[in-house]
Amino acid sequence: LNTVPEAVEAIRRGEVVIVVDAEDRENEGDFICAAEKATPETVNFMLSGRGQLCVSVLPDVCKRLELAPIVALNDAPLKTAFMTPVDIRTARTGITAREKSETILRMTADDCAANEFVRPGHVYPLLAKEGGVLRRAGHTEASVDLARMAGLQPAGVLCEVLDETGDRASRDSLSAIAQKNNLKIISIEQLIAHRRVSEKLI
Ligand code: 5RP
Ligand code: CA
Ligand code: ZN
Repeated sequence: LNTVPEAVEAIRRGEVVIVVDAEDRENEGDFICAAEKATPETVNFMLSGRGQLCVSVLPDVCKRLELAPIVALNDAPLKTAFMTPVDIRTARTGITAREKSETILRMTADDCAANEFVRPGHVYPLLAKEGGVLRRAGHTEASVDLARMAGLQPAGVLCEVLDETGDRASRDSLSAIAQKNNLKIISIEQLIAHRRVSEKLI
């Protein structure tokens, strides 16, 4: 694994990093980048993870864009906070990497408004907890924390990584993918520990 500062620097440069959660949680590795760095090329690469591409945002963005929870009662085991999926109104269908990039970049701009998007769309917002990984040890919060720590808008893009058989990629295959694509790889446990120390919480 790399260090947290190495991953934060990579995020600042607009690179994709791999973030793994605890083995007794999802035991998944997600491709993650900062939302404001989600170019069509980056989104296209992240879609090669073949998971569900999502954009993690804080409550103020959901309020501004009028994004309600996708279901009234979330009974998913980890309470992953899916909100109304949207597409930018100017998209033809919303499914392409370019159109998803346009949706994400606009959603996370400071001056965006609810009526710039159609719903239902193809970009899945996830509502991140304020407080990040110190509140919830999920990829949703990890992506927001990494973007914020990189000095960027506190919003991230994520997509789970599957292996060639379609199973969730193992730690070993994630390391191989990281090496092949020259990506940093860190764990959410590392991020929690780093924040506790750097914010003098222990
Ligand atoms: C969205 C998911 C992913 O697991 C994603 O990583 C966000 O979830 P969490 O914050 O629970 O890790 O389900 O496709
Ligand atoms: Ca999940
Ligand atoms: Zn996850």
